[in-house]
Order: sequence, then C-alpha cells, then structure tokens
Amino acid sequence: MKKFPDNFLWGSSTASYQVEGGIENTDWAQAAREGRVPVCGRACDHYNLYEKDFDIIVALGHNTHKISIEWARIEPEEGVFDEKEIEHYKKVLDALHARNIKPIVNMWHFTLPLWFSKKGGFENSRSSFYFARYCAYVTKKLDGKEDMYVTINEPLVIAQNAYLSKNWPPFKNNIFAFLRVLKNLSRSHIAAFKAMKEERPEIKIGISKNNIYFHSNANPFNIILVGFLSWFWNRRFLNGIKNHQDFIGLNHYFHHKFGGPKEVCEKTDMGWEIYPDGLYHVLLELKRYKKTIIVTENGIADANDTKRDAFIKSYLGSVHRAIEAGVPIFGYLHWSLLDNYEWAFGFKKRFGLVEVNYDTLERKIRPSALEYKKICDANAL
Ligand code: BGC
Repeated sequence: MKKFPDNFLWGSSTASYQVEGGIENTDWAQAAREGRVPVCGRACDHYNLYEKDFDIIVALGHNTHKISIEWARIEPEEGVFDEKEIEHYKKVLDALHARNIKPIVNMWHFTLPLWFSKKGGFENSRSSFYFARYCAYVTKKLDGKEDMYVTINEPLVIAQNAYLSKNWPPFKNNIFAFLRVLKNLSRSHIAAFKAMKEERPEIKIGISKNNIYFHSNANPFNIILVGFLSWFWNRRFLNGIKNHQDFIGLNHYFHHKFGGPKEVCEKTDMGWEIYPDGLYHVLLELKRYKKTIIVTENGIADANDTKRDAFIKSYLGSVHRAIEAGVPIFGYLHWSLLDNYEWAFGFKKRFGLVEVNYDTLERKIRPSALEYKKICDANAL
C-alpha cells in the first residue's frame, strides 16, 4: 500500500464558466454569439445546483474542492462591483464549509469581462491594475474561512491559445501580443498577490501552472530543444513570480517527446497520450522552487469511463513516487468533478468524475469516481 502524507488534500476542480451557466457578459459568450466558439448557455447549471453537486463531493469522499470566481459576475462593468454575486459565492463557500470540504478559490479561469476584453484584456498595459483591484475586492469581501487562493489559471495556455494559435478569443496570431500578455499576466499575478495579502495577510496564494514533460532521444539538437522548452514553458513564468507565491499549483496533461523511437501510448478522447511518468518528471522539476505543491488539475476526457480508473491510479502512482523523491506535495485535484464546457470543443468531451445529462441536468456518478473514492478514503493507493 502506498500511503500519502497525513492531511493530504483529495478532491477535484471546476471552473465557473465551464459549469455555472448563464454567464453572458464575457469575451467567450461574445465569441459564441459571433459563431466562433460553441455556445455555453446554461452549462451544468452549477450556479443553481451547487448544493447538490457538493453533496456528491461528500459521497465521493473528497475533502477539498477548487472553484473559480467569475470576474464578469463580480465586476460586470468597469469599477462597478455586484454585491449580489459576492453573496452568491459566499453561499457557495459556506456550502462547502458546511460539508467539511476545504475550498480553494481560483480568481480567474480564462474568461474576461466584456468591458475588460474591449480594453484589450491582458494586452492592456494597465491590466495588472484592473486585475489586482478585482482580486483585492473579492478577497476582502469573502473574508471567511477559506485561506487558499489561486490568482491565475494556466498563463501560458491562455496566452498561447488566444494570442498565438487563434483558438480562443481574441483569436490572434501575434508573437508580440503573446509575449506582452505573458509579461502582463506575470505583473498581474504579483500585483494581485500584494493587494490580496494587504487585505488578508494570513491567506496562502499561488497560481495554477500548466507544465509539460518535454523529453527526447539522445540527439543533441533534441536535447537542447528540450532544455529550451522546459525553461520557456515550464519555468520562465514561475521564475518571474518566485518571490510572490506561497505554494505552486500544477496542472498536468501533456508530454512531448522529440525524436524516436516513439512509445505506443493509449489516448484519451481528446487524442492526448496517456503518459503517467510525465507527471512524476514535472513534479520533480518543481522541487527547485522549495515551495509546497498541489496538483490543481489532472484528468482525462473519457466518455465511456473505460480508462479513467487506470488513469487516476497510474498518475497517482507518479505523485506518490515524487513524494518519495522528496517533492513536498500536499494534494491532488482531479479535473473535473462534472462533465463541462470544454472550451472550443463545447460539451462533446467528457472530463467528469460525474456524468452530466445536459438535457435533464441529471448527474450520474461514474464507476471510476467510486474507485477514486477508495483512494481518498484510505489516503493510500
Ligand atoms: C484547463 C481546463 C480544461 C482542461 C482540459 C486545463 O488546461 O484549465 O479549463 O478544461 O485543461 O482541457
């Protein structure tokens, strides 16, 4: 039996736009109205059904849950804050506390309020001011028992998809915009970190960083490429904010091997290779920061639920191996609790421990979720 450290956090993550429904004043909703991305609509209606969903979390043996706050709800117009929406999120957090589930609060998960996107979003040189003002406001207003916050989800992923590969709003292909956004996201994190700590010095703040395991054969060119990409994609952003984070949140989905021979790997419904060893290596790469680490996302699109159980067990094997190698990991959050709006892929890809019927909104626990429950209950693999 592979034991995990005492008080290990077990749970799952969701993101507001992907599950809540009814969010119309964002760049994504606007892009959907223009026919450029799928419509999100009422999604899982988690905005209204959160109590039910949190009962499921309890039934699944989790002790933690990561939610995100929708910036466009809180600040629907520039400088105008909606108290009603703060009250809503307070109720959501209370509902978690009432069930003894530790909330982790993510301030921003990809979607921009329309007013902010019209100003150029994170291309705007004042973006860190707007972002920090929003984060400070929320932190001050919540002022409850929740003590763990994430400022930004996956800075490189949003910058790449939105400013380099034209997949996400504002659909750009401009290296200068990409680099400017990365710089402004780094500044925004630091500004938010300081502003939030001023409101509540006791809270712990990190980001969720998507890291990829780059590896290669013995070809020297490939080895250099791997060194460069590991630095550029995995470490450069973290290096820039290293004095302004209390913990590191790691999101992990990909490995990329340069040069042959290629290993034959099973694939998820996204066509992504299942490569559990990758999680071990990216965790080890984070050891240098001497911060505690939580896996804030790791998961699989698997509509038939035939691969998720083995996926979870094998990736958790890598987490355990990294802990044994001295990486201070204090939790694992599976992506995701519910099937949800998978961005440019809409609702077709199913990442949930819990299946959602989008016609009836019925939830159905997948068998793999019950296998994951056994691990959470035993705090062991
Ligand atoms: C994102 C999620 C997304 C998941 C699966 C992560 O990069 O944070 O929003 O649903 O990957 O693609």
